[in-house]
Amino acid sequence: MYPKNTWYVAAWDHEVKRLHLMRRLLLGEPVVLYRASDGSPVALEDRCCHRHAQLSQGRVKGDTVECAYHGLRFAPDGACVRIPNQKQIPKTACVRSYPVVEKYHWIWIWMGDPALADESLIPDFGVMDHPEWNWRGETLQVAGNYLLVVENLMDLSHLPSLHDTTLADTAIPENDIPVEYKIDGTAIQVDRWVLDTPIPPYFRILADLDRDARVDRWMNTTYTPPSFVRIDIGAAEAGSGARDGDRSRAVTTWNLNAVTPETATSSHYFWAQAQDFAGDDPSISELDFSLVHKAFLEDLEVIRGQQENIDLEPEAPRVDLAADRAGVQARRIVERMIRSETGSEPHRRSA
Ligand code: FES
Ligand SMILES: [Fe+2]
Repeated sequence: MYPKNTWYVAAWDHEVKRLHLMRRLLLGEPVVLYRASDGSPVALEDRCCHRHAQLSQGRVKGDTVECAYHGLRFAPDGACVRIPNQKQIPKTACVRSYPVVEKYHWIWIWMGDPALADESLIPDFGVMDHPEWNWRGETLQVAGNYLLVVENLMDLSHLPSLHDTTLADTAIPENDIPVEYKIDGTAIQVDRWVLDTPIPPYFRILADLDRDARVDRWMNTTYTPPSFVRIDIGAAEAGSGARDGDRSRAVTTWNLNAVTPETATSSHYFWAQAQDFAGDDPSISELDFSLVHKAFLEDLEVIRGQQENIDLEPEAPRVDLAADRAGVQARRIVERMIRSETGSEPHRRSA
């Protein structure tokens, strides 16, 4: 199960085209995405109300979609506006139309009660609109529940083990430093700072910094329910005041993640990696992206295996460790959201 009264990312902006109908399964529901003649994105139920053909197999006519099977046409609001050879259009002839917003290069969709769709609730991914930041993103298909991806992103303790050849050196080990948690029921903030420390290879390579430089480092994670994780990763000249907000002597990357359930056991994983340095050298952005991409493929293979085991025995007990604190809290927030929508307790493992 998933919360429905919330925004999810349905697609990258460039995936949704004017005359192309794109089918995507979101929260277990078939959705067809396209653009109206003014360029605005449209999301309709991808199931014709006549005989359940997929509208995405049809064609765009003006602002409407025409079903390939018998030619019914549907407007962006979901109403049937034409039936070949029949003047009377039954009131029930319509498909669902979902509220959509184009923002931060993503097409956001609201799958719950349309009356509650409030654009101001979209979490801030403004880095992708900022002229001084470079970024590159992609969509990955995950053979696992979306919360397994959230848990993975909230738990940086797996970096040295699973990503020993990719991102291991970027980790800030929690047992050596105080980790600041802010958990308020609607968001989770986990801040990790290490002051006056050797520069990690990740930043030495990306930002071309002196091998002997000493830096203040951070890795600060913001979770916004149900499935948005933004990780602010940086290094500043030691003692230059980054911890107090002065980033003038710092280099920063953001790891930006939006996970959308496809079904209860699979997900669309939209993510991007951004940098505030080397703006004139696209190869740096490319390198950063490919480092993280490689690590994410390692994550997704583990998640695929987890889901396979969960499917075999959903109630098998799990042991939580200290580093799981944020992930466990994220799950609780989502469970509360689902409870408030349905009035029932979601399935503990595969919610
Ligand atoms: S199934 Fe769509 S028009 Fe008949
Ligand atoms: Fe990972």
